[in-house]
Amino acid sequence: MDIRLARAEDFVGMQQANLVNLPENYHIRLWIYHIVTWPQLSYVVEDFKGRIIGYVLAKIEEESEDKTADIHGHINSISVLRGYRRLGLAKKLMLLSQEAMASVYKAQYVSLHVRETNKAAIGLYRDTLGFEVADVEKGYYADGEDAYMMRLNLESEP
Ligand code: ACO
Repeated sequence: MDIRLARAEDFVGMQQANLVNLPENYHIRLWIYHIVTWPQLSYVVEDFKGRIIGYVLAKIEEESEDKTADIHGHINSISVLRGYRRLGLAKKLMLLSQEAMASVYKAQYVSLHVRETNKAAIGLYRDTLGFEVADVEKGYYADGEDAYMMRLNLESEP
């Protein structure tokens, strides 16, 4: 298996994996927009046949008009196909994206939303990576489920 930066042409494989793994799906324009706009932040895992078996799709958000005030990364979506889980792939994808957020964009923290019942993902974020729940967003998902908004401060480069 090979972990590498996502390229614009990977959107088909990434979208395919997303459709299989998650109910939150996105138009192809969104996949391509993220990869092209923040080319250092999204990664894929491919198997020996070149099939995409996991991905992380991420972006940078600037919440203030003062562009230096609150630059942070955001994980839009991450998933790994069922047969390849618990091998540490999602952890590696997250760490690569987080490192690029800090080093390339000087992001101060990384945020994400996760379903409050998603035990596997919460285990990854909280127990393995050190995220904390910053807020609960009521009815965030289309089916009415609440989301945890989670955050992790990023190490700043010396
Ligand atoms: N139960 C509890 N903890 C888990 C589980 C699980 N099923 N899976 C992973 N973890 C935690 C563990 O702490 C694990 O460390 P350990 O194996 O040493 O105990 C740690 O996460 C790292 O696990 P990885 O092997 O790196 O995770 P994996 O590659 O299996 O991917 C993922 C985890 C992405 C959540 C996977 O289960 C998946 O694709 N699920 C469906 C899609 C999904 O829910 N994506 C996240 C939605 S939220 C968002 O996209 C922002």
